[in-house]
Amino acid sequence: MRMQDMVAIVTGGAGGMGRATALLFAREGAKVVVGDVDMDGGAALVAEAAALGGEIGFLRTDVSHEADVAALVAKAEADYGKLDTIFNNAGIEQPVTASDAITEDLFERVIDINLKGTFFGCKHAIPALLRNGGGAIVNNSSVSAFANVGGNLSYAASKGGIMSMTRVIAIEYASRNIRCNAINPGVIDTGMNQRNMALADDPAALEQKWRSITPLGRMGTGDEIGEAVLFLASKQSSFVTGIGLVIDGGRIAT
Ligand SMILES: NC(=O)c1ccc[n+]([C@@H]2O[C@H](COP(=O)([O-])OP(=O)(O)OC[C@H]3O[C@@H](n4cnc5c(N)ncnc54)[C@H](O)[C@@H]3O)[C@@H](O)[C@H]2O)c1
Repeated sequence: MRMQDMVAIVTGGAGGMGRATALLFAREGAKVVVGDVDMDGGAALVAEAAALGGEIGFLRTDVSHEADVAALVAKAEADYGKLDTIFNNAGIEQPVTASDAITEDLFERVIDINLKGTFFGCKHAIPALLRNGGGAIVNNSSVSAFANVGGNLSYAASKGGIMSMTRVIAIEYASRNIRCNAINPGVIDTGMNQRNMALADDPAALEQKWRSITPLGRMGTGDEIGEAVLFLASKQSSFVTGIGLVIDGGRIAT
């Protein structure tokens, strides 16, 4: 098992790619603590992991609230005695809006959850990782840090900020054995994109557009993201830090 005896936190793990990653970590031998605002999804995940013989704990956590994130890290250490890795994954989309029509409220909401939430996850995980002699941080950025089609300014800004934050932490803590990397998913089939499609004037055309900008011609899956996160979270990537791992079916290559 690739994560035997490791202790991992996954934020936003009650749904989408966070859920798939948390289940993969548990299958690979990790004790996992999930933080999410979705309590029903969290309870279902805990039950599913137990049925599979894995171990996932849950704490209601709004990543935009620093005290919630501090409590999540404290729970992992209290329940399992250490922290080896955190996947800062929780995030929300920005409904397609012209850049000059984005309200301060909308901008702040996206930045608070995506960027500030990732900062809080890093900030509070770092002391716990140091107490354990080091570890790995994986932040969920997006191809939107590099490539966009417009209408998503606050989302792209949050994901670009996550890339910068990832590099700063990688440099700052490398000598203390903390690695920090990001993933840059392309279009992945999760609740986020199901909501994006539901809001579109022509959902079929939007899905076709996603396929056409992705050379592999389909959306990625949460399980495919989980495998990449597992690589960066575990010792398999022991000489990798400060990168964004693009998992996008070839989109950036175009
Ligand atoms: N789906 C994509 O195509 C795609 C592409 C690139 C990056 N991402 C990123 O991947 C991450 C996961 O997205 P997903 O596609 O799995 O979406 P999703 O909506 O399926 O899952 C997101 C999870 O985060 C939780 N969440 C939302 N706000 C939260 C908060 N304030 N505190 C804690 N949890 C919160 C939700 O309850 C949900 O369980 C996000 O950061 C997203 O920006 C998604």
